[in-house]
Amino acid sequence: MNAKIEDIDAVVAAVERQADGISSWEFRRADGGPLPPFTAGAHIDVQLANGMSRSYSLCNAQEDRDRYVVAINRDPNSRGGSTLIHDTVKPGDRITLSAPRNHFPLVEDAGHVVLIAGGIGITPMYCMIQRLQRLQRSWELWYSCRQRSMCAFRERLEALEASKPGRVHFNFDQEPGGRMLDLKQVIAGTLGDAHFYCCGPNPMLQAFETAATELGRPRDHVHVEYFAAKEEAALEGGYSVVCVQSGIELRIEHGQSILDALIKADIDIAYSCSEGICGTCECKVLEGVPDHRDSVLTPDEQAANDRIMVCCSGSQSARLVLDI
Ligand code: FES
Repeated sequence: MNAKIEDIDAVVAAVERQADGISSWEFRRADGGPLPPFTAGAHIDVQLANGMSRSYSLCNAQEDRDRYVVAINRDPNSRGGSTLIHDTVKPGDRITLSAPRNHFPLVEDAGHVVLIAGGIGITPMYCMIQRLQRLQRSWELWYSCRQRSMCAFRERLEALEASKPGRVHFNFDQEPGGRMLDLKQVIAGTLGDAHFYCCGPNPMLQAFETAATELGRPRDHVHVEYFAAKEEAALEGGYSVVCVQSGIELRIEHGQSILDALIKADIDIAYSCSEGICGTCECKVLEGVPDHRDSVLTPDEQAANDRIMVCCSGSQSARLVLDI
């Protein structure tokens, strides 16, 4: 995580078990002051002791000004961030956070909102539900987990369902008789003007995007958030990047990302995930055509070619001019 991001000196106020393998961490400012505001769907970067930085969606209500809460799945197949947090980050620890950013914002005046979560993908959805409840908007949740015991926020979701039945649908695909959530059926079963939000493992997101396209849902009503890269980074090299603010031109070599070249040239650039999912390394494109490989920008935003995630995207043109 780079100094360009507003760093927050925080303290771990609480750690709470939410489900098998999932716990939540509550952070407050170390000086006791208010935190920067956020909106439903936002995430923060958490700086870990080993120098790694990881992005996590906020799952508490956006009206909270004194705390951020993230829920994290202990994932043995991850790059180590979740395991490190589970094993080492305890109440009372000091920790550095970034200010929240939101690439998965909620359309608050949608006629109806359909939230689809797979596993730990429930975290931004739970934040959105609290917001939709506060605004008294129409919503429904489809939440798929392998087993009931792995379902985070279950009691609170069951209470919401009890207060107004028909909104919360659980799917436990690895329990006896269980099967994969039928995304096509979920999408087809809702009115044409609904907005859809999906967050979960990549195969689920890709199946969701395909189903939404096949069923003719408008692209701007279909919102996804990836937790892992959906494409390989562009490392072909063979083009130049002009950094206007720094006044230098860099040759991007084979095997190198633009971010690698910027760091090597000592250019001040904020970054976190290094795989195109957090949006921290976004740069403005002044000239040239990027080869977009990120999971942050929508297809329309990518087509505008005025922004690039330099950690993973490359260039289709021989020269790319960036406002950096
Ligand atoms: S560093 Fe996360 S998108 Fe580039």
